[in-house]
Amino acid sequence: MKMDQELGKPNGSSCQNTHKPFPEKILLPMLAKSIPGRSSVAVLLLLILLCSGAFFSTRLLDSSPSFNGFHLQHQSIFSPLKSHNFTSPSDNAVVQKQKKVVEIPLNCSIGVTKGNCPANYYPSKYSPENPDPPSEEERPTCPDYFRWIHDDLWPWRETGITESMVQAARRTANFRLVILNGRAYVETYQKSFQSRDTFTLWGILQLLRRYPGQIPDLDLMFDCVDWPVVKKRDFIDRPDHSTPPPLFRYCGNDDTFDIVFPDWSFWGWPEINIKPWEQLSEDLREGNRRSTWVDREPYAFWKGNPIVAKTREDLLKCNVSDTQDWGARVYAQDWNKEQQQGYKQSDLASQCIHRYKIYIEGSAWSVSEKYILACNSLTLLVKTHYYDFFTRSLMPLQHYWPVKDEDKCRSIKHAVEWGNKNQEKAQEIGQTASRFILDELKMDNVYDYMFHVLSEYAKLLKYKPTIPPNAVELCSEAMACPAGGLEKKFMEDSIARGPNTNIPCSLPPPYGPASFHIITEKTESLIEEVDRLEKQYWNNTS
Ligand SMILES: *[C@@H]1O[C@H](CO)[C@@H](O)[C@H](O)[C@H]1NC(C)=O
Ligand SMILES: *[C@@H]1O[C@H](CO)[C@@H](O)[C@H](O)[C@H]1NC(C)=O
Ligand SMILES: *[C@@H]1O[C@H](CO)[C@@H](O)[C@H](O)[C@H]1NC(C)=O
Repeated sequence: MKMDQELGKPNGSSCQNTHKPFPEKILLPMLAKSIPGRSSVAVLLLLILLCSGAFFSTRLLDSSPSFNGFHLQHQSIFSPLKSHNFTSPSDNAVVQKQKKVVEIPLNCSIGVTKGNCPANYYPSKYSPENPDPPSEEERPTCPDYFRWIHDDLWPWRETGITESMVQAARRTANFRLVILNGRAYVETYQKSFQSRDTFTLWGILQLLRRYPGQIPDLDLMFDCVDWPVVKKRDFIDRPDHSTPPPLFRYCGNDDTFDIVFPDWSFWGWPEINIKPWEQLSEDLREGNRRSTWVDREPYAFWKGNPIVAKTREDLLKCNVSDTQDWGARVYAQDWNKEQQQGYKQSDLASQCIHRYKIYIEGSAWSVSEKYILACNSLTLLVKTHYYDFFTRSLMPLQHYWPVKDEDKCRSIKHAVEWGNKNQEKAQEIGQTASRFILDELKMDNVYDYMFHVLSEYAKLLKYKPTIPPNAVELCSEAMACPAGGLEKKFMEDSIARGPNTNIPCSLPPPYGPASFHIITEKTESLIEEVDRLEKQYWNNTS
């Protein structure tokens, strides 16, 4: 994949020259300051007798701050399992009742390679709430954005999904994933750009560790490129009534049937030093505490790569100059320079220092959206054309301020003036967006989203998946044990340490046509309202 096609980058910035392996000297100082305090005192405590009759040694880790980057391998989750500490069945029962977190480190003691995954040290089933799992009604309901899962799978609701439909999605897929009895088999067709496929697969493997025995057998095609490709017009109102091929990817739009799935950045993006979301979201939360909205710069900030899209080049015209001030401060990202400086300038948490932040698409969605919305600033959202798995639930004036695509500078100028005059309301919108991102989009929910979209997808399959002839088994060991550098660190930081103590949230029902209509209407009328305010403002100004 060509560099200039790469788009889902923080602040939409280009990644030129950043996909080479990191020189160690850049890495180390960078890591030294970003290592979270972490456990190392591993007390081997439990041994749980599970249904298979096998013993699994587990560890309880506390939180003492002795974790020190790469050097901890011996004490980290990558440790080979050595000591066993047997407890009696009655002790086990006590531990179960207290809902102690069970940690099961990776077994790196054998030289694990692709297709050679440890057989059975990890439980194949785990029910955290033994013996009485909570009923459907007692489970917390997933956030509203989960409701779009039904919409994404709607094209197959009557036909189901046949193997030939899946095969038809191969045309653009980077890989095919088959899950059988909780184990993953992957056939790679084409390596993706950077580590997108690696961290996407890593995320799926963590889902399997998190919910052992709960992910149904399935067979899917995944495309790691930015743009959705399954065009509705090729399938709707056609005489042959053919069904679209089901294809997973990171984003979609109103003209396509691609099924959206969380992007790789939730587990980390080593090429540009974006940490796993679990840690990064905490940094952002912390950053928000450091600077209150009123103390922030009263301008709209954007930093990214302008050359990927005409609309971004347009945005540069809104920058402050000797002759004009649209209230915007926009910067072109220079990744070469930032890499040399150890990415100090691109540290996302320290970019939350403006009252307003601009989000503008590249040539498709950008992973920067969550980082921008999480800032407690008012997000000025330039009209978007793509969605990812959570953005369809964002509402104008509730989560963001809508900015017109074709008249950006005037739109931004008005937004900034409005916010500086209506500070309470502007802050409230910023905080609502941050809460949405930091709470409803926390990793627990990202995993549950994956759980539900995969489970619903699997229900539609009309055949029993089998291991494709060219597939290899993939497991966390095969990926993390041989990995190095930042990749290894991000895997270590984002691993599912053991089976989750809770079962997934319950999937809310689809939006019926009526409520769907209400949402669309409401969005449009709010955007029109802003448009009216804007017109009024410019009439009075000129
Ligand atoms: C086994 O557990 C006990 C009590 O939890 C602990 O004192 C002991 O050090 C453990 N033994 C090993 C080998 O980890
Ligand atoms: C680690 O994996 C190897 C190979 O599957 C296996 O023989 C060994 O028992 C495993 N170690 C533990 C502690 O489960
Ligand atoms: C926008 O203006 C600021 C302040 O003058 C300047 O530092 C920055 O480089 C400008 N951005 C671009 C993309 O020219």
